[in-house]
Amino acid sequence: MGQGPDIRFESELTMKSRPFGRLDLGIEMQKRLDGMVAIVTGGADGMGRATALLFAREGARVVVGDVDTAGGASLEAEAKAAGGEISFLRCDVSVEADVAGLVAHAETRFGKLDTIFNNAGIEQPVTPSDQVSEALFERVIDVNLKGTFFGCKHALPALLRNGGGTIVNNSSVSAFANVGGNLSYAASKGGIMSMTRVIAIEYATRNIRCNAINPGVIDTGMNRRNLDLAADPAQLEQKWRSITPMGRMGTGDEIGEAVLFLASKQSSFITGIGLLIDGGRVAT
Ligand SMILES: NC(=O)c1ccc[n+]([C@@H]2O[C@H](COP(=O)([O-])OP(=O)(O)OC[C@H]3O[C@@H](n4cnc5c(N)ncnc54)[C@H](O)[C@@H]3O)[C@@H](O)[C@H]2O)c1
Repeated sequence: MGQGPDIRFESELTMKSRPFGRLDLGIEMQKRLDGMVAIVTGGADGMGRATALLFAREGARVVVGDVDTAGGASLEAEAKAAGGEISFLRCDVSVEADVAGLVAHAETRFGKLDTIFNNAGIEQPVTPSDQVSEALFERVIDVNLKGTFFGCKHALPALLRNGGGTIVNNSSVSAFANVGGNLSYAASKGGIMSMTRVIAIEYATRNIRCNAINPGVIDTGMNRRNLDLAADPAQLEQKWRSITPMGRMGTGDEIGEAVLFLASKQSSFITGIGLLIDGGRVAT
């Protein structure tokens, strides 16, 4: 004890100091990502958007790639109004050239890359496994698994040029626990866990750490769409609460804090893990 900064204390202060690290007292606080350049895919909405805004508040210059150009424009404006820097580029993560362009944009615009959050993903509408079409399976795998592969593949050379950095991949509790009716989604998220471990081990001695997060039920557009499609939305919401020991959905901000930890030096001896952020669900 007594060595290094009190990270918990610093984090509490920084959170209270929103927006962008200035306390009401007028004291400039140390920002947790000062000087860093980050990419967030799927950052126009949901937990990606919350994470991109948190990264910008904490001093990072952030490149966001997403297919939602209106959401991207409003994100840029929201960050700018609060004194942060987010640069949006249209990017479909299932298209390799788009992802290569996203990484190139970060290096051209901000000079380097320190971290990438491979977050973009789509749900599989609840479907019995013997009725999942080839097209549905391929689309979910293309965006979730292949998109994460492209993000890792094209970020790695940039991180090596930078002398190191971090990758955070968005998996899911679906990689570990049956959620029901989501075969292609679970397969994609299990694949992301395996890919995360392969990269972590392969680049461990080159100052690149690669980790995943495994969110439980989070209150985002994805789950609002799942509710809209449910025969009985109230019953589905109640089910989500009952399978989560903490009795509620998580928030994008709670995901952002965990991603920030894995992206930053605060997690300097952690690589190859999947961090459950699930209100206790997988522990039951
Ligand atoms: N919501 C949950 O409960 C939950 C739980 C576990 C994991 N996840 C994962 O979290 C990630 C973010 O999901 P969310 O809940 O914030 O969903 P969301 O739908 O709110 O946000 C997803 C974002 O990804 C973008 N996107 C979709 N397809 C894309 C593509 N091909 N290229 C680029 N961007 C694309 C969307 O436009 C959107 O901005 C996903 O990978 C999802 O699988 C979500």
